[in-house]
Amino acid sequence: MKLWGGRFARAGRDPHFDSHFDPHFEKFSESFSVDQRLILYDLRVNQAWVKALGRARVLRPAEVRRLARGLEAIRASVEAPSTGRRMTFRRNVSTSSSEDVHTWVEERLEKEIGPLARKLRTGRSRNDLVATETRLYVKSEIPNLRRAALELLEALLDQARRHSGVVMPGYTHLQPAQPVLFSHYLLAYYEMLLRDWDRWEDCRSRADELPLGAGALAGTSYPLERARLARELGFARVARNSVDATSDRDFVAELLFACALAMVHLSRLAEDLIIFSSPGFGYFELADTYSTGSSIMPQKKNPDSLELIRGKAAGVVGKVAGMLALLKGLPLAYNRDLQEDKAALFAAVETTRDSLVLAARVVATLRIHPERMKAATNQGFLTATDLADELAQRGVPFAEAHEQVGKLVRYCADHGKTFRDLSVADARRFIPRWDPKLQTVATSPERAIERRNVVGGTAPAQVARRLRQAQRTVAKLRRQLV
Ligand code: ARG
Repeated sequence: MKLWGGRFARAGRDPHFDSHFDPHFEKFSESFSVDQRLILYDLRVNQAWVKALGRARVLRPAEVRRLARGLEAIRASVEAPSTGRRMTFRRNVSTSSSEDVHTWVEERLEKEIGPLARKLRTGRSRNDLVATETRLYVKSEIPNLRRAALELLEALLDQARRHSGVVMPGYTHLQPAQPVLFSHYLLAYYEMLLRDWDRWEDCRSRADELPLGAGALAGTSYPLERARLARELGFARVARNSVDATSDRDFVAELLFACALAMVHLSRLAEDLIIFSSPGFGYFELADTYSTGSSIMPQKKNPDSLELIRGKAAGVVGKVAGMLALLKGLPLAYNRDLQEDKAALFAAVETTRDSLVLAARVVATLRIHPERMKAATNQGFLTATDLADELAQRGVPFAEAHEQVGKLVRYCADHGKTFRDLSVADARRFIPRWDPKLQTVATSPERAIERRNVVGGTAPAQVARRLRQAQRTVAKLRRQLV
């Protein structure tokens, strides 16, 4: 069945085409294989729509009842049992020759209640319909993304709490830089994910606008109360411009971006964990569950879980560019190009959610080796800045102090020494004022950490405070979700 057959020539009647039906084009243009994900939203929107048509006296009460019962029967037949509040449906509807989910529902309704089904689409278009359903999908999936993000936030905080005193080298350019608390490093990922959390909420509130009633592009000609429709469908507001409402997919692009950025954060976390769990570093060890072996090299334990997260991030990032490219040349209002939004949206949302859940489990089960981190902290001259600072405090111009310490480091590096192996005589060749205090500064990463006692710094007191705040925040977010 087509929703638009009337205007078109029948097979064999058109002199230019010997057939009206090209299966290649049918397959090329169908979207049911993708947008069947929206079936339950389509049924819900249609339910609200027939009631609104009843209130507007476009349909008689008996017609509304029959249409509503028919839609309800379809819902009962497709909704998977025991899924609670989640909008899922049985997979057995997945093969159909319908053009899209809206066509599928009309066809099914006609089978269910007969020709009355043909009144269903009075006053509305698939253009306002699909925009409404895609927004419903976005609004209902964002809490799932946030729930998954919360698992990771909790795993990060838990590891930070369990290893609160552990010291590790901090890096810039992947070169040893200054010592930091391991918990401070973990909390950096907490900050990133917290921004993702806010960004999703932002996306949700901007998507919270009802397109239905915008018709094909100009607004419906039936006297419908759109505000009431919005309330019934759980939207905060009604879209104010029908041309925009039917052609706008900003909310899709925004959510794709929010997902892509979250995936970038996960990918950076994955990269860190991959590097630091390689034997060269050995700071962490992945649980066996989230590692794989090699078919040829018996010794291998590979971090495939993290590599896949990093790899899948690429796909989600690409979807943002794809969506923006899809929109940039579109004349107003609806164009069929927009059908391509959904495959990208569904895939990005599902990949991001699954990656968050996996990352949370990898972090929660990560084994930490504090002694390896500590040993690395004593190499790499991580206290060099503190040495220069100490000299500067004694009146040596910082640039000069920097030079002296730099020469000392070079000497040590050339002779395979750490600051711990230095004799006083060695040190005095480069830093004439070398004394026990400077020796302590050079060999105490803990002291270097304690001195970074500014808000946001790595000093234990600061990190403990931020961890407590974070724990309170996460507990609050958890309450918001239930
Ligand atoms: N399957 C279409 C989509 O996803 C529904 C809207 C079709 N509208 C139209 N005028 N052909 O965008």
